[in-house]
Amino acid sequence: MNQTVNIIKNRRSIRQFKDQQIPDSELQTIMECAILAPNAMNQQKWHFSVIQNKDLLLRMINITKENMLNCGVEFFASRAKDPNFHPYYHAPTIIFVTADEKNGLAQIDAALAAQNILIAANSYNIGSCIMTSTELLFASEKGKAIKKEMGIPDGYTHICAIALGYQEGESPIARPRNKEVIRACCTNPSSQMISSGKIEASGEGGRDGVQLD
Ligand SMILES: Cc1cc2nc3c(=O)[nH]c(=O)nc-3n(C[C@H](O)[C@H](O)[C@H](O)COP(=O)(O)O)c2cc1C
Repeated sequence: MNQTVNIIKNRRSIRQFKDQQIPDSELQTIMECAILAPNAMNQQKWHFSVIQNKDLLLRMINITKENMLNCGVEFFASRAKDPNFHPYYHAPTIIFVTADEKNGLAQIDAALAAQNILIAANSYNIGSCIMTSTELLFASEKGKAIKKEMGIPDGYTHICAIALGYQEGESPIARPRNKEVIRACCTNPSSQMISSGKIEASGEGGRDGVQLD
């Protein structure tokens, strides 16, 4: 199978990580891939805080848990009370992705950059998990102070955080995807149709659904 397709197909969200840090050279390339993502009018109104410092990470974890307890949502409060809960799944590297809060397109750009990070990481066998519940870090005054410490520009909002590290334990099984959301909207009898994961010539004219393997 084509290597890029293989990497995309095999990426899964990893929620258990080894202690071992990822190599700087690979992190560097992963971040280059992030900023090479397409972005509207090449404005690049995004920001990436790469965090590996254990002291800072510990403070982020404690503030996140505190904010989860106080956010008024039972789901988050009960998770924060669980002694085994770790907001970043013990990953040794965390990337906070933020973007200009007034620029809706920058937020799409940042999501595309995040996907590049996940795919580039997977190409090095580095596991990843994209998270948005991480937004709770900034929900208190302590969190806002740490946002400054993380170098996030004023007026930039949380898009997601990405946990990076080497996977601990078994690979998760792919969660089911609904294939019905893909439609081949072709009526030309000689159109190429997607079928069984391959592009195939169809002599039958338009078809309603698409099957992927
Ligand atoms: C916008 C977005 C927000 C997510 N937030 C979280 C999160 O807060 N915590 C988490 O563990 N996973 C989070 N995920 C990961 C999804 O749960 C995961 O991608 C989905 O279940 C599909 O599984 P897969 O990534 O292994 O294919 C998020 C994914 C996306 C795209």
